[in-house]
Amino acid sequence: MEVVIAPAEELAVLAADAIEALLQQRPESVLGLATGSSPLKVYDELARRHEQDGLSFARATGFMLDEYVGLAADHPERYRNVIATEIADRVAWPAERVQGPDGLAADLPAACAAYEDAIAAAGGVDLQILGIGTDGHIAFNEPGSSLASRTRIKTLTKQTREDNARFFDGDVDKVPTHCLTQGLGTIMEARHLVLLATGRHKAEAVHQLVEGPVSALWPATVMQLHPHATVLVDEAAASRLQLADYYRQTYSSKPDWQGL
Ligand code: GLP
Repeated sequence: MEVVIAPAEELAVLAADAIEALLQQRPESVLGLATGSSPLKVYDELARRHEQDGLSFARATGFMLDEYVGLAADHPERYRNVIATEIADRVAWPAERVQGPDGLAADLPAACAAYEDAIAAAGGVDLQILGIGTDGHIAFNEPGSSLASRTRIKTLTKQTREDNARFFDGDVDKVPTHCLTQGLGTIMEARHLVLLATGRHKAEAVHQLVEGPVSALWPATVMQLHPHATVLVDEAAASRLQLADYYRQTYSSKPDWQGL
């Protein structure tokens, strides 16, 4: 696991560099998309490169991590709409090439199975962008999630609903109680995991993710078992890392030509 500690703007550039390198190498690459505030600067950077340098997403495929159950099709916080607004529309990504689990399906377990099939049919995810919840969840794999889980229905914790109430007029009762989420086993099959975390409120989750024991109590710790995982954090989110100096030393002595 590589840990990079840098200001948020630099982290966004590093993540965008990795995505751009992938798209240049293979325009049909498959990208895993996350919602939440953590990837927003990355999406801004990609939108800028699309506009100024012609970075194209036309042949790429996108798979979202998760979706709320039951939010109306036109609800602005429905993750499909969030992803359209934050990234897909800004880079002229053809709508049919960006998919998410269907939180409005009549048969939710069937929708989850269909989503797994779609990811497999696309050849799997090349690079998965991730954020992390304050309770250590990735996507919506709440504490207690099986480390081998697949796309399924989950009940959101009180903590997550309170954290996300800011997107629902600050009213926790407006936050859905359930979601569909890629499982930890699904996410672990992506070929490169790139997690972004900023702010002191993420410091404990980041410490557990990088240095804690692998445990369903902190679901993100499963990433320690991934052969190519990158953790991009600012100083505040890194503030509880025991080996922070070592991560800094390792990154500063890395050759310039080597990407994430
Ligand atoms: C949500 C999303 C996660 C995200 C997490 C952190 O619950 N389902 O994918 O990583 O929140 O969000 P933020 O980046 O806004 O802190």
